[in-house]
Amino acid sequence: MIKRSVIEGVGSYLPERIVSNAELATRVDTSDEWIVERSGIKQRHMAADGEKTSDLAIAAVKKALDHAGRDGKEIDLFVLATATPDQTFPATAARVQAALGRPGVPSFDVQAVCSGFVYALAVADNFIKAGQAKTAVVIGAETFSRILDWNDRTTCVLFGDGAGAVVLGAAEGQGTAADRGVLSTHLHSDGRHHDMLYVDGGPSATQTTGYLRMKGKEVFRHAVVNLAEAVNEALGANAITIDQIDWLVPHQANKRILDSTAHKLGLDPARVIVTVDQHANTSAASIPLALAVGVEDGRIKKGDLVILEAMGGGFTWGSALVRM
Ligand code: ACO
Repeated sequence: MIKRSVIEGVGSYLPERIVSNAELATRVDTSDEWIVERSGIKQRHMAADGEKTSDLAIAAVKKALDHAGRDGKEIDLFVLATATPDQTFPATAARVQAALGRPGVPSFDVQAVCSGFVYALAVADNFIKAGQAKTAVVIGAETFSRILDWNDRTTCVLFGDGAGAVVLGAAEGQGTAADRGVLSTHLHSDGRHHDMLYVDGGPSATQTTGYLRMKGKEVFRHAVVNLAEAVNEALGANAITIDQIDWLVPHQANKRILDSTAHKLGLDPARVIVTVDQHANTSAASIPLALAVGVEDGRIKKGDLVILEAMGGGFTWGSALVRM
C-alpha cells in the first residue's frame, strides 16, 4: 500500500468589492473592450482598506475545513503560497495557524508567485507521503492590488485579490491512477527569466515594497509552451492520455493563454475551468479559487481526474495530477 494525500475539502474567499473594467477605465486610460479582447477579464475583486492576505486566507481555510468536515484542531501543517504576504515576516501562514488555534504545528509560506499553489501542494503532499503530517491545509492567498502600479495600464488591469484553500488528508492506496489523491506533482523554474515578471522593490534590494513589472508578450510566449509541457509531463509520468482528464484547472492569467494551452494539448475547451473573467489573475490563489468554483457548481465530482497547472514569475511552472 502506498501512502498518498487526498483532497478532502476546498474553500475560497473573495473580497466583497467588485471592480468592473468600466470602473477601471475611469482611473486609467483603458476600455472594457480592450481588456476583454486581450485578456478575457471582465471584473476583479479587490481587498478593502486594511483587509490583509491573512484575512482572505483564514476565511478560505474555514470554508475548506467545513467542506471537509474537519476541525481546525486536526490540522498539523499549514502551507501558504503568496507573493503578497502581510509583512516580510513572520510568514502569513503563521497568522492563519494562530487564527485556527493550532499553536505548535509547522506553518510557513511558499514563494513561487503564480505557481505558488502547485508548489505548496507538492510540499504538503510530500510531508504527508513521508509521514510527517496527517492533515494539512494548503492555501493560495493574494492581495495583488497592493503591488499594482495604477499608472501602468499594461499591468494594473490584469490582476485581482482572493484566496483559496484545500484540506489534504492521508490515505492509503495501490498507487494506481484509479485511487483518489494527488497522483503526481512536477515543478520547474528558470531564474534566467527573472526580469520578465518581477516586483521592482523588496527589503534587501530597495527597502521599498515596489510594483509589479511585466514583459507581457514574452511571458505569454513562454507560458503557452511551458504549461503544455507541464501537462504532458504529468500525463507521461502517469501513463495516461489527455482524453482521460476530466478537468483542467489552470492558473488563470489570461483567457487567451488558457485557450492556446487547451488547443496545444488537444483538450476540449469545455473541460477547462475558467474563472479569469470573474476573478482576473489572482496569482497563487487562482487555482484553488477555480477548483472551488468547479466543485461548488457540481462540475468537478469525487473521482474525477483533474490536472492543475501554473506558470509564474521566476519563471516557475509546474503541474499536479489529482484524482478528486
Ligand atoms: N488598455 C488599452 N490599451 C492598452 C492597455 C490597456 N490596459 N495596455 C496596453 N495597451 C496598448 C499598448 O500600449 C499597445 O498600444 P500600441 O500598439 O499603440 O503600442 C497595444 O495596447 C498592444 O499592447 P500589447 O502589449 O502588444 O498587447 P498584447 O496583445 O500583447 O496583450 C497582455 C497584452 C494582455 C499583457 C498580454 O501580453 C498577456 O496576456 N501576456 C501574458 C501576461 C500574463 O499572463 N502574465 C501573468 C502570467 S504569470 C503570473 O500570473 C504572475
